Amino acid sequence: MGKQEQTDQRRRNLLWVGVVVLTGIWLTLWSGQTSGSGVVLAQSGTAIASGTAQAMQTPVLPPPACTDPVALTPAMTEGPYYTRNAPERTSLIEPGVKGTKIVLVGYVLTADCKPIEHAWVDFWQADGEGVYDNDGFRLRGHQFTGKDGRYYLETVYPGLYPGRTAHIHVKVQAPNQSVLTSQIFFPGEVRNSTDSIFSTELLAAPLNPATGQLATLSPLASTPAAGQSAQPPTYVFNFVLDVRSGS
Ligand SMILES: [Fe+2]
Repeated sequence: MGKQEQTDQRRRNLLWVGVVVLTGIWLTLWSGQTSGSGVVLAQSGTAIASGTAQAMQTPVLPPPACTDPVALTPAMTEGPYYTRNAPERTSLIEPGVKGTKIVLVGYVLTADCKPIEHAWVDFWQADGEGVYDNDGFRLRGHQFTGKDGRYYLETVYPGLYPGRTAHIHVKVQAPNQSVLTSQIFFPGEVRNSTDSIFSTELLAAPLNPATGQLATLSPLASTPAAGQSAQPPTYVFNFVLDVRSGS
């Protein structure tokens, strides 16, 4: 190998080393951007829920506050966007869903505060931009409560659309009972005061998922400390159904 060839070979080797190092740096940065909360920031700064979100910790849920009698969950209009036969799932997060990821948890209870096992809970909602999917099942899904009467939903904070404040639609049914159709609202939402069907009886409560303590501020206002992975903003809402024996 001549002197010129040796020089060329050294240059090629250095070039490969550079490519390998730069690729390693890029992969490190990329994996750091997509880990943690599972939420990827689009170029516009709009939070886009990622379909590859890592498994989240199960929120600590306080025992239901059992007053005597427990107030039944009021019914609320179904609205025009319900679609039957949505898939069974506890996460409505999938690639392309727009919005800020949240978790909604709670119990389905009888009026005497007993958990209802295998209650059917069917959610549907607008995405973070206030848009419903009326052709498919995006942001639609049903599930059944466990033995403890709990449900758990991963979704996005619902966006506003004309005339409505932020809300999630829901149908709930204890086994062999009638269906309750209602809606869930969120505290601190400015449009609550101008939505004619908003009800404080249907307000979800912000929850600290690590301690089970109810939070005083909307979790959407909280900002995780730099470098810390944070659970998504978590809300709790308990359903109380009018369960009649023998019906
Ligand atoms: Fe709606």
